[in-house]
Amino acid sequence: MNSSLSKNGSQIAGIGGYVPDRVVKNAELEKILDTTHDWIVQRTGIEERRWVHPEQATSDLCLMAADRALKNAGMDRLEIDCIIVATSTPDFDVPGSAPILQKKLGLGSVPAFEIRQACSGFLYGLQMADSFIKAGAYKKILLVGAEVQSKVLDMTPNGRNVSVIFADGAGAAIITPTILSKNSSGLFSIKIHTDGNFAQELSIPSPGSAIGPERLTATMLTEGKHFLHMNGKLVFTHAVTKMPQVLAESLNAAEFTQDQVDRFFFHQANMRINEKIGNDLKIPSSKIYNTIQKYGNTTAATIPLGMWDAFESGSLKKGDLLALTSFGAGFSWGSAILRF
Ligand SMILES: CC(C)(COP(=O)(O)OP(=O)(O)OC[C@H]1O[C@@H](n2cnc3c(N)ncnc32)[C@H](O)[C@@H]1OP(=O)(O)O)[C@@H](O)C(=O)NCCC(=O)NCCS
Repeated sequence: MNSSLSKNGSQIAGIGGYVPDRVVKNAELEKILDTTHDWIVQRTGIEERRWVHPEQATSDLCLMAADRALKNAGMDRLEIDCIIVATSTPDFDVPGSAPILQKKLGLGSVPAFEIRQACSGFLYGLQMADSFIKAGAYKKILLVGAEVQSKVLDMTPNGRNVSVIFADGAGAAIITPTILSKNSSGLFSIKIHTDGNFAQELSIPSPGSAIGPERLTATMLTEGKHFLHMNGKLVFTHAVTKMPQVLAESLNAAEFTQDQVDRFFFHQANMRINEKIGNDLKIPSSKIYNTIQKYGNTTAATIPLGMWDAFESGSLKKGDLLALTSFGAGFSWGSAILRF
């Protein structure tokens, strides 16, 4: 962005996050998944994660994160004029979690969108919110990334490569208009991509319309089609290739250099992915904010949850230049450059 120009744009006016209070340590998984603490730590960097209590749904996590984001922005619930929820683990297959969250917030007939872009959901939602703001459609958008992954995991040794990784949590942001300039708070660029050739490499096949005359049958349940399935090695190799590419693309579009970025919030899929990207790009590890060691992979929530965690711990400050970068199911990936 040319520093001499100012133009209409959007900003993150508030950030919030929430994780369930149930801490699941690797030792607990050793008892059910034929795994070990050492394997999980060495391959993923995860030491513990949060899983919901049985009665908690995705919208409950959304609500907690949303209220914290509103408080952080100094706003009241009733000021929100649009809701976007990114999740791949909704309360109900239809209508998802967004309308449920809207009801829990008491927001009358405010429109509530839901997008299923898995790990890139927050960035896809951020581009939607930015576009809505620039078009003048809405002025105070609540954007939430949230998941209850623990309810789509195969909790037997068959699912151990997936079930040690995924977890539950939510992150929320309030998106409002701003006049963009190089030193102002605001979103300078956002780039997103999809490659549906790899749609089945990370997926929950059922309920779905692609595998037979019915969306869910007893056979599908027996075969575990309702669980999350992942080709881990393929995801890994694509993530460490696509994330640096899209990060460079977004930096270029924003006219900032990598060295100018204060904090990198990468999707939290695997600590080794983030370490490889950091090493390859020579990013100081102190600039990469990771939460995977304590929260696991919370899919659409990882980036806003990480921002909230960093803000709470004093590692993220107003005025910091941030790079947010994701990769996940679809495959889909994206990157945004913004000043907080
Ligand atoms: C899942 C992942 C950690 C697996 O690591 P990996 O090094 O690729 O491991 P592999 O799948 O090749 O399995 C290696 C061995 O460990 C075993 N294994 C898999 N999961 C295990 C677990 N939880 N505990 C113990 N052993 C396990 C495998 O059975 C295999 O055993 P074998 O050599 O006897 O056949 C890794 O592929 C990964 O992180 N991928 C990216 C995942 C990701 O980003 N997902 C989210 C996308 S948003």
